[in-house]
Amino acid sequence: MDKFLINGPCKVKGQVVISGSKNASLAILAATLLFDKPVEIKNLPAVRDIDTMLKLLKSLGLKIAINKNNKSVLISRSKNINNLASYSLVKTMRAGILVLGALVAKNGKAITSLPGGCLIGARPVNFHLNSLKKLGMKYFIKKGYIYAKIKNNLVGSEIKFPKISVGATENTIIASCLAKGRTILKNCAIEPEIKDLTNFLKKAGARIKWVGKRTVVIDGVKSLNSISYSVMGDRIECGTFCVAAALSEGNLKIKGFDPRLINTELNLLKQLGAKIKKTNNEILIKGSKIIKNVKHLVTKEYPNFPTDLQAQLMVLLCKAEGRSIITENIFENRFMHVAELRRLGAKILIKNNKAIIEGNTKFEGAELMSSDLRASVALVLAAIVAKGRSIINRIYHLDRGYEQLENKLKKIGVNIKRIS
Ligand code: EPZ
Repeated sequence: MDKFLINGPCKVKGQVVISGSKNASLAILAATLLFDKPVEIKNLPAVRDIDTMLKLLKSLGLKIAINKNNKSVLISRSKNINNLASYSLVKTMRAGILVLGALVAKNGKAITSLPGGCLIGARPVNFHLNSLKKLGMKYFIKKGYIYAKIKNNLVGSEIKFPKISVGATENTIIASCLAKGRTILKNCAIEPEIKDLTNFLKKAGARIKWVGKRTVVIDGVKSLNSISYSVMGDRIECGTFCVAAALSEGNLKIKGFDPRLINTELNLLKQLGAKIKKTNNEILIKGSKIIKNVKHLVTKEYPNFPTDLQAQLMVLLCKAEGRSIITENIFENRFMHVAELRRLGAKILIKNNKAIIEGNTKFEGAELMSSDLRASVALVLAAIVAKGRSIINRIYHLDRGYEQLENKLKKIGVNIKRIS
C-alpha cells in the first residue's frame, strides 16, 4: 500500500489549478443512464471514485470511450443493458446508489446493492427509497440488494425531504426527469454540485426549475438530447488548498474554481487572519503569521460551513491562538483524524459530536494512518507544517478524491514523496 513521506515545515507558494469536481461528476455520470443518445462529459477528475463509477456504468451496459488527455468521456447506450449494480463496485463507493433513480426511470427496474456504511457513518438510504417510492417505484430489500421496479412509468409527485440530503436530492431529481407529469421537491440540498447536475440535465432538455431556496420543479420529458458538458471545479479541493495557504503562512493563486461558491469558507479564513482577493475564477490567498481561533464552528448543509472541510479546518485551528470548538452536525463519526492529529502533538478533546481544540500547537512529524478521504488530507496538511518527517499510510483513501495531490503539492513547495 502506498504511503506519503513529508518533511516539514513548508510554506506553500505559487499556483495550483483545481481539478473537476468528484461529487458533481459522480451525480452527472449516474444521470447518463437516462440518455438514449451519446453524451460527452468533460473535465472529469482522474480519481479512483470516477474510475469506479465508470466501471459501474460499463457493467450496466453503457459504452465508455475515455479520452485521457482532455479528461473527457463519451458515453453511449449499448444493446445489452443490464440492471444489476453489484456490491463489488458499490461497496467501495457509496455514490453507486445514485444509479438507482436513473435505472428505474429509464429501464423500469434495477437491482442495486445497498451502499453499506463507511468510516464516517452508517450512510443509510431511506430518504432515497422513500422519495423514489412516492414516484411509483416498488421495491424490496433482500440479502443487501434493493430489488426495484415500476409498472409503466414513474409518475410525478410532490415530495418534501424529511432531512436535507445531497444524494437523495440528486437521485430523485435524476429519476423525475423521465417521470410522467410534474414533480415538486421540497427541502432539497442545494450544494453547487447539485446545481451542476441540474444545469447538465437542463442543457440536455430536461425541464427543471429552481423556484425557491430549496424547492425544485421538474416536468418529465420523453427523452434527453445528446450534449457535451464540462463539470465544475472541485469545491472541497479548492477549500483544502485555501486552508493549506492559511495554515503555512503561504501565498497561493488558486485557479479553475468560482470563488463565489465558497464564500462562507473564504469569509471564515479571512476572519482567522488570511488575506484573500477574488476574481471570477481565481483566488489569491495569503496566510498570516497569527491565526485567530473561532469560538464555535458548526458544520451544516450548504451554504453553511461544509462537513467535508471540517477536518482540514481543525488542523488550522490547532495552530490558532486560543481555544476553538467544532460541532460536526452532518455525520455521526467524522472525527477519525483527531487521534492521528494527537500523534503530531494536537490537544483536542472530543465530547459526542463536539471537538474542543487547544491552539498554539507545534506539530512534530510522526507516522500516521489515513481513514476517510477528507480526514486523510487533513493529515497531509498537518504534516506540511509539522517539524520533521511524517509518514502517512494507506493513502489510497486520498487517491479516491484528490487528483495528482503529491504533484500539485510538490509544485507549490511541499517536500513530499509517494512511496509505493
Ligand atoms: C454527499 O454524501 C457527499 N458525497 C459527501 O462527500 C458529503 O459529505 C455529503 O454529501 C454531505 O455534504 C457525494 O456527493 C458522493 P447526505 P451523501 O445524503 O449524499 C443522512 C466526500 O468526502 N442520510 O447529504 O451520502 C446521512 O447519514 C463525501 O466527498 C440519511 O439518514 O450525504 C448523513 O448523516 C463524504 N438517509 C446526512 O443525512 C438518507 O437516505 C447527510 O447525508 C440519506 C442521508
